[in-house]
Amino acid sequence: MKPRVLVTREVFDEVLECLARHFDVESNQDDVPLGAEELARRLADKDGAVITLSDRIDEALLARCPRLKAVCNIAVGYNNIDVAACRARGVMATNTPGVLDEATADFTWALILATARRLTEAEAWLRAGRWEGWKLKQFLGHDVHGATLGILGMGRIGQAVARRARGFDMTVLYHNRRRVDAAIEQSLNARYVSLDELLARADILTLNVPYTPETHHLIGAPQLRRMKPNAILINVARGGVVDDRALVEALKQGTIAAAGLDVYENEPKLLPEFLELKNVVLAPHIASSTESTRRRMAMMAAENLVAALTTGKPPNLITG
Ligand code: DGY
Repeated sequence: MKPRVLVTREVFDEVLECLARHFDVESNQDDVPLGAEELARRLADKDGAVITLSDRIDEALLARCPRLKAVCNIAVGYNNIDVAACRARGVMATNTPGVLDEATADFTWALILATARRLTEAEAWLRAGRWEGWKLKQFLGHDVHGATLGILGMGRIGQAVARRARGFDMTVLYHNRRRVDAAIEQSLNARYVSLDELLARADILTLNVPYTPETHHLIGAPQLRRMKPNAILINVARGGVVDDRALVEALKQGTIAAAGLDVYENEPKLLPEFLELKNVVLAPHIASSTESTRRRMAMMAAENLVAALTTGKPPNLITG
């Protein structure tokens, strides 16, 4: 009998075809989000699963799924998975590192430019039929070229963001848990600074850190107060890295100038105040969403599951 696996959300056909060569596959091509109860019910008789960042894999769920041997996330971030609980129960967990770096860096820049140049605000105004002609002071924005870019988190995605800054003649500062190699700093023309200095000097601050207990509310009211009043905050990392309530206040009070956000606390239920603010550009967690990137992420998760259940050695193991 083939191992039984669950694919918790809609995926591309080739992903199901790949899985079906090895497993009995139950898939949720209707893409209806599975609540915790339904997820546990469907996983109870499965050997493995391809999951997404909306599926919480924790001890309570694992306790109800005794056959489960592998959960393969279609995401590089894995804060939805209790890694320690998986380890303790011998469940392999995997993620999708590398394949989404460039698409995510591209989108970081889309948010930087849209936010600095007030693109979505201006478009909404034009679509509302309010444009009566050119005006000197219309939608004055912030210069991106020549500005100081602060990167918080200089992993693969942070570095891809920094590479793109070269074309904009920017000063690039970064802060990271560990300073990166001198050769990388040199190639990116990026200077390591303390978090305090980064906050104080960045005109544009992008967040590129994983969400962990250590990065929870890394940017809250005290950090926002240290930033410049003309600063722009960009978050494509994870909701929870920023204290959203504090950010709403900072945007209302003019503590910082604007924000470009792809991720939120309690997604998809973002704070309604964000919708009222003009100085924020909002996207629905799509930084990695290009056709080729999302196909590669999903296929990578499927390949991890095949490797996990056939050899016990998935390439992108996070529970090792
Ligand atoms: C990730 O891979 O962690 C992204 O947030 C998914 O889009």
